[in-house]
Amino acid sequence: MIPSEDDTRADLRRSDFGADFRWGCATSAYQIEGAVEADGRGESIWDRFCTLPGRVRDGASGAVACDHYHRWREDLDLARDLGVNVYRFSIAWPRVCPDGRGARVNPKALEFYSRLVDGLLERGIEPWVTLYHWDLPQALQEAGGWNRRDTSAHFADYADVVSRALGDRVRRWITHNEPWSSAFHGHWDGQHAPGMRNWRIALQACHHILLSHGLASSALRANQPAAQIGISLGLHPLRPASSSAEDLAALQRHDGLRNRWFLDPLYGRGYPTDILVLCGADKPRIEPGDLEKIATPTDFVGVNYYFPETVVDAPGAPPLRARVVQSPQVERTALGWEVSPGGMVELLRRLHDDYQAGPIFVTENGSCYDDAPAADGSIPDSARRRYLALHIAALHQAIASGVDVRGYFAWSLLDNFEWAEGYARRFGLAYVDFKTLERRWKSSGHWYREFLAR
Ligand code: FCB
Repeated sequence: MIPSEDDTRADLRRSDFGADFRWGCATSAYQIEGAVEADGRGESIWDRFCTLPGRVRDGASGAVACDHYHRWREDLDLARDLGVNVYRFSIAWPRVCPDGRGARVNPKALEFYSRLVDGLLERGIEPWVTLYHWDLPQALQEAGGWNRRDTSAHFADYADVVSRALGDRVRRWITHNEPWSSAFHGHWDGQHAPGMRNWRIALQACHHILLSHGLASSALRANQPAAQIGISLGLHPLRPASSSAEDLAALQRHDGLRNRWFLDPLYGRGYPTDILVLCGADKPRIEPGDLEKIATPTDFVGVNYYFPETVVDAPGAPPLRARVVQSPQVERTALGWEVSPGGMVELLRRLHDDYQAGPIFVTENGSCYDDAPAADGSIPDSARRRYLALHIAALHQAIASGVDVRGYFAWSLLDNFEWAEGYARRFGLAYVDFKTLERRWKSSGHWYREFLAR
């Protein structure tokens, strides 16, 4: 169903969400910072991946990106102009610990993030820190990366270092961003760094990432008892390609890895048995106590919502024998992602109904279109403006139905390095001219600012 213009709910006001609602925008370190060799930063798996031929569109890399490392003041001014009360950014682990280990800390990196945090607070914006948005230190990759168990312990050490430095001013922590992506794009389909294609390693890496979430949560809590800790999951509502028993069963299998593989252990239910059975001998090594650590109580769950997936039975596609297909006659963004605000309501309701999850924050939501400046210099992205309005209206609907959603972060403040898609895919509320690095609001950015000021 293509949502109509009416579904944007022009009557909605910021105040309809309550005074405590968090309105924000999000970014991540490798996608915006650039300055990959500045001030003692170590190499990350993304720096390395970008040098591999054919892996990133146009041979792009995050070496310069938006040069946020040098232009952060201007970017924080943009966030202030928008009127957000929260800003989600990530810390580059290899900046703080150039070889990944907590024993050697780079003070210049901590100074940079400390200035950034102060800059946010001075502008009346609450900092939300993501500790891992996919940029593992390359030195740890060389020692085995997430496939190796002690990477989880190194992550907890890094969390400890960061929270000691910033915990006097930062209260909100997101351990991981989309562990599905780091584990399975990184080690199964190879679309992301480190670019492996090995199902068994992907499962093991995934387990270590989830374990590291638990270990880091405990480290954060020990340093800061009042910390508010969560994880951001990339979740998808799913539809079967047909009502056949085969497609419905395929949907269950796909859901088992896409959604339940994360939600179940985080909510103390362990890994879903149907998927463990399918994994057979490839299933991850889980040591006694691991599942308890993964289920360490946290304070909120972050949901990154972009699109629903349609699943078809695919007997020839091991290990899950399920495949995602494009359902016909739906509206799509320039990346082919289905536009479905109703899917977000469905997903949030599921978290509420099946997991009693709450508080929930939508830590990412946004859309990609082929933006270009008009003759008068404006950036007319009415499709993104509409996408944003539709999803904010859907959020209101979810809340009205009783789901405990407390905040919304638009992805993204700026156009940036969109991983394997390089700079060809724009998600920003502000347009970035990657030749001059000039930033300029798109019409969606103006719309969000007006909505927040209403
Ligand atoms: C999410 C990522 C984020 C960005 C958006 C478009 O999966 O977390 O970094 O790439 O997709």
